[in-house]
Amino acid sequence: MDVIGQCALLAAVRGSPGNMSIFAPASPGAHSIVDLAILTFVVTGLIFVVVEGVLLYSVWRFRQPRVEQTGEPPQVYGSMPIEVAWTAAPTLIVFFLVLVTTRTLWDVEKTQPKSKPGDNTLFVNVIGHQWWWEYVYESYDGRILGFVTANELHMPVSDDDTMRPVYLTLKSADVCHSYWVPRLAGKVDLIPGRVNSLMLETKEPGLQLGQCAEFCGAQHANMLLRVNVDTPEEFERWLANESKAALEESAVADGRAKFLAQSCVNCHAVRGTPARGTYAPDLTHLMSRQTLASGIIENTPETLADWVRDPQPIKPGCLMPAFGLTERDQQLIVRYLLSLR
Ligand code: CUA
Repeated sequence: MDVIGQCALLAAVRGSPGNMSIFAPASPGAHSIVDLAILTFVVTGLIFVVVEGVLLYSVWRFRQPRVEQTGEPPQVYGSMPIEVAWTAAPTLIVFFLVLVTTRTLWDVEKTQPKSKPGDNTLFVNVIGHQWWWEYVYESYDGRILGFVTANELHMPVSDDDTMRPVYLTLKSADVCHSYWVPRLAGKVDLIPGRVNSLMLETKEPGLQLGQCAEFCGAQHANMLLRVNVDTPEEFERWLANESKAALEESAVADGRAKFLAQSCVNCHAVRGTPARGTYAPDLTHLMSRQTLASGIIENTPETLADWVRDPQPIKPGCLMPAFGLTERDQQLIVRYLLSLR
């Protein structure tokens, strides 16, 4: 695919840029952040206007002596009232900003509760990899889930009566990454050897987009985030499908055998088969995902075939190599992958 084709696809997959604006918050935490941002901007803006105003006025007003001056101008050695004013005023302003920032941090940083039945709470482990996201679904509403998926988070939408939050536990498998869905929350880093957490909650159903926000290598810019906010019914259906092992369709038995005979299985897992690799995205329900390669291309039979043939032109430097499969083997494997719904 040429560069222009890639850009067009990228635009189509990523949706409008408004989907990633912090000025269109869709969760209580994001609201709190944008309110703080605007307040801080107004306060610092006023300071800027006052300071620059005094400076410009002085430059203009004292551009030349008003009267013929002889000898030295009057010498001024400090002023106690002015000293007190320009120490006290910034101290008060900073203290005020510390207070409002603390309030926002309080709103945004929720400690993780224990999972229990009836709490409508989803728990997911997120593991950042170069350059994709692994999601380990732990539990929902007190039910143990225990399946793994990649790149596209699904969560239930909240409504006026019921809050349905998701608690993400953030870890990294390699370098620092940062989880950022601007309309839902601020950035939280995924740091090797450290565990961070983040709560998301929204009353707005639909797709929210995000982006890895910490430089993590060649394909950092193509480490995109997709959060599907489903209705509770849609979410239950999605959970039921993802919880199942992969279907064994006899029509694609040849492709399945080919897939399992290749080194695909060293990195990828397909539940219900001997493929148990954990180095790359879990493929058990690959076709239930809208995109490939961490959100950069739409997931269609054609793009999937391109990806299996050689991922490098699509995502240069990504850790999946081209395997040099024969056309026949590649077709069989793609047909098998297409059966993983
Ligand atoms: Cu991951 Cu940048």
